Amino acid sequence: MIDLAIRNVQVLDGTGSAAVAADVEVYQGRIRTVGSAGPARREIDGGGLCLAPGLIDTHAHDDGAFFRHPDMSFKLAQGVTTVVSGNCGFSAIPADAGQDSVAASGGILAGLEGQFTDLAGYFDAVLARRPAINNLMLVGHNTVRGITMGMEARAPTASETAIMRDHIDRAMAQGACGFSTGLIYRPGRWSETEEVIALAKAVKPYDGLYTTHMRNEGDRLLEAVEETLTIAREAELHAHISHHKAAGRPNWGKVRESLARVDAALAAGQRVTLDVYPYTAGSGRMIEYFDLDDPNRALAEVIRIASCPAFRQYEGHMLTEIADELGIDVTEAVKLVLTAPGGDRTICIHFIIDEADIETNLRHADMMVGSDGIPDLRGRPHPRLFGTFPRVLGRYVRERGVLSLPEAVRRMTSVAAATFGLQERGQIREGYWADLVLFDPNTVLDTATYDDPKQAPEGIRLVVVNGEIALENGQHRGAGSGKMLRYRRPAHGETA
Ligand code: ZN
Ligand code: CU
Repeated sequence: MIDLAIRNVQVLDGTGSAAVAADVEVYQGRIRTVGSAGPARREIDGGGLCLAPGLIDTHAHDDGAFFRHPDMSFKLAQGVTTVVSGNCGFSAIPADAGQDSVAASGGILAGLEGQFTDLAGYFDAVLARRPAINNLMLVGHNTVRGITMGMEARAPTASETAIMRDHIDRAMAQGACGFSTGLIYRPGRWSETEEVIALAKAVKPYDGLYTTHMRNEGDRLLEAVEETLTIAREAELHAHISHHKAAGRPNWGKVRESLARVDAALAAGQRVTLDVYPYTAGSGRMIEYFDLDDPNRALAEVIRIASCPAFRQYEGHMLTEIADELGIDVTEAVKLVLTAPGGDRTICIHFIIDEADIETNLRHADMMVGSDGIPDLRGRPHPRLFGTFPRVLGRYVRERGVLSLPEAVRRMTSVAAATFGLQERGQIREGYWADLVLFDPNTVLDTATYDDPKQAPEGIRLVVVNGEIALENGQHRGAGSGKMLRYRRPAHGETA
């Protein structure tokens, strides 16, 4: 007898095809048939709702969350069954017991535990926690550089470059999908383009990706896109631009120009893709955005504190409110927060993106969805951690018609799976792994807000991970069936 039958559903298979009425049979972790289902040990009536492949979060920072929150509720509740971690140049690996990569990442990697040094060790350590969803990893430039040469604001020597290339090669050999950079962050910002090219070349033998939080997303966005294309072209890699945006009001609308540049590169034969989160605010480590000698006033005025170990009472407040209350200038409030003990670990939310640019991004056929959620659940994290995918499906697909439902699902599933080398995932297809989400297209929507972010979305009825029911009617089932995925290969610990 088969393990699971999901009857009476509209199957959106992930290819972009229109929904088809069918049943789906699951057996030994995989989809056995799509059509009509025989008797099963567990039967579910889908009630005519949509069944899609499990959604893929192409931009995650869940490296540490897999230890601290192995239930991964904030992703599972959105219908996400796979995340790509290690983004923006910060990755759990390589690790060195003598160095604090969590601190070096400004908390992005918070939660990491254990004695691993490489990807295989990290995968084993995560699997011991029985994670609820699948994880695929990038190896990050900032982490590799920090471990090799500390916080040195200079070019690497030839031998340092060789050591960094070895770290990247080892991660790729163990199943990483590519090399990520975060060139606005320290220490990545101290690297010249040549350094990044030399390191990216270590990925070439694996034909992995070059993903990037670009050097600039505002005034110099187009130059940063050009640098990205140059790096990927020189290293002969697929380029993936993370959280594509034009930051700061004077730059709004510029995403059209950068997408035109991407289109030109595509037409010239370069492989380029992107991701976006559906919010007008970014979020990150506040200290990275300011020059403490001369804090940018326009930016300070649009900042809200998400988490702040130095001043918990400021969490959830705009910097302008804090400044008013204290009777100081908003630029003084920046200094106050950032120079307090632990102030460098402040995570902020900054309202810097134009709503129209989100729609422009979502209309682009090579645009995927990435939450960029920072899984620090203290304070008031950016709601994108909890609502990204239902928000696209509810607000941008159903309410505004920016893209069709089959197309949105395609980008969140088969396009992401093909780009990030997920083997036998991303489609509802016989023989593929049974990562599935059952949702109501008429009600699916995010409920997480900036004031009250830790809220599960509506309309997600059932989530299946590798054939196991992980979430049902809003209840976490504690299955722990997530796998550590390897680029274009079977998962960690599995053979073909
Ligand atoms: Zn980033
Ligand atoms: Cu990121």
